[in-house]
Amino acid sequence: MLDIKVTRTATPKAKPEGKLGFGKIFTDHMFVMNYTEGMGWHDARIVPFSDISLSPACVVFHYGQEMFEGMKAYKGADGKTYLFRPEMNAKRANESNKRLCIPEIPEDIFVEAVKAVVKVDEDWIPTEEGTSLYVRPFVIATDAFLGVAPSKTYLFMVILSPSGAYYSDGLAPVGIWIEDDYVRAVKGGIGYAKTGGNYCASLAAQVKAHDAGFSQVLWLDGVERRYIEEVGAMNIFFKVDGKVLTPMLNGSILPGITRNSVINLLKEWGVPVEERRISVDELLEAQQNGKLEEVFGTGTAAVISPVGKLRYKDDVMTIGDGGIGPVSQKLYDTITGIQTGKLADPLGWRVTL
Ligand code: PLP
Ligand code: COI
Repeated sequence: MLDIKVTRTATPKAKPEGKLGFGKIFTDHMFVMNYTEGMGWHDARIVPFSDISLSPACVVFHYGQEMFEGMKAYKGADGKTYLFRPEMNAKRANESNKRLCIPEIPEDIFVEAVKAVVKVDEDWIPTEEGTSLYVRPFVIATDAFLGVAPSKTYLFMVILSPSGAYYSDGLAPVGIWIEDDYVRAVKGGIGYAKTGGNYCASLAAQVKAHDAGFSQVLWLDGVERRYIEEVGAMNIFFKVDGKVLTPMLNGSILPGITRNSVINLLKEWGVPVEERRISVDELLEAQQNGKLEEVFGTGTAAVISPVGKLRYKDDVMTIGDGGIGPVSQKLYDTITGIQTGKLADPLGWRVTL
């Protein structure tokens, strides 16, 4: 058991009203824990949410040594608070930590920290359809040192943000730009880790896609620019001729927890799923033959996000009738149903606080 000192705010904020958006509002408290070489992780505490003070020389500001995670807490109709597969986030956090030379956080401590801070701010969990409390655990390197070397001190923090849909139009199909110039990651790099650098690397293409009227970028592999990787904040699935295809985990894409859940659900339902290399030419051909039936992204923030339009060079493919496909809708209903306690949880994914 982690010994967590709790200091409650003397000035609780008003809860938000109206449409929430994503990641703009923060709750009253946050979890903080320090790491010092030789001492390990120490001083676990929950304190009022506030700005923090750091040396401008901190490693994180110059060389980006940081890891983050994304998960959600839900309020069920039964009044209980639920998390979804939090142990998967704890495991992935350590896969990222290892790649980034950040000390690992014992999985039980990671989950305990998340549970403790969500418990303190439980009354911030929104209850309207499609809303949840987005949970953002992260580690930053805090040594004040300009040499390029792993930091010897770190902060692990968990902040909370009552949120609605990631895309402003909710479940409405999004337009995706297949990027054929910039690349995000290569095998052997940091693509599979959840770390700021990957997102920073994506911004220029994202701006280009936005300017052209698309919501997100779909990345191709960094070597041949031919094979599908993932979207800026989601993994990607294609339903082609009755089968569901998704890129295999190859070291340069994020092993999404929603991706894993979708694959498991489809297998349960008897829908054939293939994790393999998918070339952009294969998709263009499937589209030309009328076999590209559905495209959807998966992610914690985005849940299931149907794709209505895919752009590649001079082609803009409209997927199906441009609406929400039946598999995307069923996956969305099932996953959110399990997450919020509306549906049975045969695979044991829901964790009650
Ligand atoms: N890929 C990227 C680049 C992401 O940022 C995310 C979001 O976390 C995902 C995929 C989906 O992962 P998960 O389903 O674990 O949220
Ligand atoms: C998430 O889905 O949790 C993410 O981390 C996506 C994010 C980059 C907004």
